[in-house]
Amino acid sequence: MFSYMNIVITGEKLSSWFKLRALEILSLHRRQGVVGRQCPVWTVKGIGTRKRYFDSLDKLSPVITIFIYEHMKAEGGHVLSGDVAALRQAPARGARTGGRVRPGKRGYAVMSNDAIQGPPRGDWQVSSEIPLPRRRDYPIAIVGAGSIVNDAHLPAYRKAGFNVIGIYDQQTDKARATAARYGIDTVYASLDDVLASPAAIVDVAVPARENYAIATRVAQAGKALLLQKPMAEDLATAGSIVAAVEEAGIVAAVNQQARWMPAALAMRDLIRRGLLGEIYQVTFLINVLTPWDTWPWIVAGEHVEVMYHSIHYLDTIRALLGREPRLVFADGSTVPGFATGGETRTTIQLIFDGQLRATVVDTHHNSGGLVDQFATFRVEGTEGSAVAELGLLKNYPTGVPDSFRYMSHNLQSGTWISPDLAGSWFPDAFIGTMASVMRGLEGAPGAPETSLRDNLGTLRIVMAAYRSMTSHCAVDPQSL
Ligand SMILES: NC(=O)c1ccc[n+]([C@@H]2O[C@H](COP(=O)([O-])OP(=O)(O)OC[C@H]3O[C@@H](n4cnc5c(N)ncnc54)[C@H](O)[C@@H]3O)[C@@H](O)[C@H]2O)c1
Repeated sequence: MFSYMNIVITGEKLSSWFKLRALEILSLHRRQGVVGRQCPVWTVKGIGTRKRYFDSLDKLSPVITIFIYEHMKAEGGHVLSGDVAALRQAPARGARTGGRVRPGKRGYAVMSNDAIQGPPRGDWQVSSEIPLPRRRDYPIAIVGAGSIVNDAHLPAYRKAGFNVIGIYDQQTDKARATAARYGIDTVYASLDDVLASPAAIVDVAVPARENYAIATRVAQAGKALLLQKPMAEDLATAGSIVAAVEEAGIVAAVNQQARWMPAALAMRDLIRRGLLGEIYQVTFLINVLTPWDTWPWIVAGEHVEVMYHSIHYLDTIRALLGREPRLVFADGSTVPGFATGGETRTTIQLIFDGQLRATVVDTHHNSGGLVDQFATFRVEGTEGSAVAELGLLKNYPTGVPDSFRYMSHNLQSGTWISPDLAGSWFPDAFIGTMASVMRGLEGAPGAPETSLRDNLGTLRIVMAAYRSMTSHCAVDPQSL
């Protein structure tokens, strides 16, 4: 096996289709154990730069080269058998769909310039680690046994080794089924039973209109609280929840978990280390097919997309930048024939002081299949950019694999680095929110990061977006 070698994909006209096919073949070789999973991969375009290219290769020796044009075989390097013929075949239907092309789950660098610039200089590894509490055995009781608890809360807690002691749902059969599925000992008959239990943390995942009644009772019982987003559907109710919780002095957070997804943590790390320079743009470009029928009570409401989906991006933007926007401008609509009381297609522009902007463009009705869907999250700064593709949204809630890459002029201009980020948005980010409540119980500074008071900032942006949609004017969130 050619472990620890450099792999170069090159050719006269390295179209993105060729590049994808080459990476697909490479991934096949990796699965077959022909090449090591750790091999860095380089792609180089343009025969005209051959001299520079081979000069650069000397530095990377030993090298495996996947040549796209057979005549380049003479120039040295290996052609992995069968590659050239395979690369010439017409693209398979759906060849670019997520999951088939899995270049380098491990760290690698892909070049799109005409010549190899060389490997990154300096520490290119990125941290996407979730800060964990000292103890993981705090007893947790869950309220709500719906789709998000089954799809994300419980898989995350199982992965993290958290201690769920019981579950309650007003539909007892759902609580029983979830308890059986995840081996939870106790099914409570009422919220009173939850509050009388030895649970230290009450984890609430029910429709937002139920949050006030439950949160105030948890606060009176003196237990820590994790409340699903949105905290409330209006600022007045949210303010009342914050007041009740602060008066009781409990540790409480909103389950605004997207800021703990691996890509967001990695971007935070890059920003903190100055590898992207001064940030001037954060962008979420989403065009997917969302199974809205999972949540009939959301679709029937007056506020749909921003309140229940883009709220994640708005909170993540706040977490990344550590700043509040001065103005919010938004537009929202749905598609012809879709029965909803609110919006399912939105555009939101956040205007910060100076040149900093954040943009969310979000559409949930893509009927073109996975081949046409995208869920791109970008951060751009004066020293570099980072780009993530959020696989979760393309086949929700199962998802397809994520991808992440970044380029920093401080490391090597033009060299894109794709570190291997452990985990994925679902379920891993849910470890982040619950861990932050536990760290809050341990007195960790700044924990929980998505405290109820912090979350008022996110909810203010959501409400400013709705005000802007009706007024067609930019709205200052602080004015609400
Ligand atoms: N953070 C995220 O990524 C994320 C993702 C999806 C949903 N959510 C949020 O989670 C919450 C639940 O969503 P879901 O998809 O699981 O919905 P769901 O409709 O599948 O489940 C909701 C459950 O809550 C129960 N319930 C309702 N009122 C109750 C009450 N007063 N006491 C006890 N049980 C009650 C219902 O019987 C139902 O089983 C929503 O607020 C939603 O916004 C968050």
